[in-house]
Amino acid sequence: MPLDPVLDVAKRLSGRALDPGAIAVDATVGNGHDTLFLARAVGPSGRVYGFDVQEAAIDRTRQRLTTAGVASRVTLIRDGHETMDQHMPPEARGRVATVMFNLGYLPGGDKARITRPATTVAALDQACRYLQPGGVITVVQYVGHEGGAAEAQAVDEWSKALDQTAYQALMYRFINQRNAPPRLLAIGRR
Ligand SMILES: C[S@@+](CC[C@H](N)C(=O)[O-])C[C@H]1O[C@@H](n2cnc3c(N)ncnc32)[C@H](O)[C@@H]1O
Repeated sequence: MPLDPVLDVAKRLSGRALDPGAIAVDATVGNGHDTLFLARAVGPSGRVYGFDVQEAAIDRTRQRLTTAGVASRVTLIRDGHETMDQHMPPEARGRVATVMFNLGYLPGGDKARITRPATTVAALDQACRYLQPGGVITVVQYVGHEGGAAEAQAVDEWSKALDQTAYQALMYRFINQRNAPPRLLAIGRR
């Protein structure tokens, strides 16, 4: 039986933290697959905040959400996830059920517009402050593209330093594949 791809595991872990009415964040909207997943999971009384630096990603995602009839429960923000504090309502602090990161570049888009170590780590720091007890951050990381390995290393160092009495940090990755498959970091707030 093939093992579950990391994208599916990320959705399962994030989905488990979500109830109808929950608040969720998609830190890297891209083509909007995760945003749509979150919007459906939080239901009509929930709220999703989605960040991406590229207009193309925001446009595609808005279209996807509109087609699915869930656009009204999502706030799309064309700005870096490292500006979370500027865009999220202060009352969301400690009340967010899940934050999903899917690092790297926009599939079918500009491969130069990748997520970067310093801004990713800054966003992860902020995401921790929004997470509610029992909440989960998922980070899908790609190490195959230029800059990917350095970013993964920065995220590793950041996660290893998390206070273990407040957070669990767990890595899900292949250890015998040669073609640099994606890996998943999951952070659970106790
Ligand atoms: C791998 S894609 C995300 C895929 C997406 N989750 C999906 O379901 O289609 C990574 C995205 O991160 C975006 N990105 C790059 N730097 C960013 C930043 N500082 N803040 C937010 N998004 C960023 C890119 O524009 C790209 O769309």
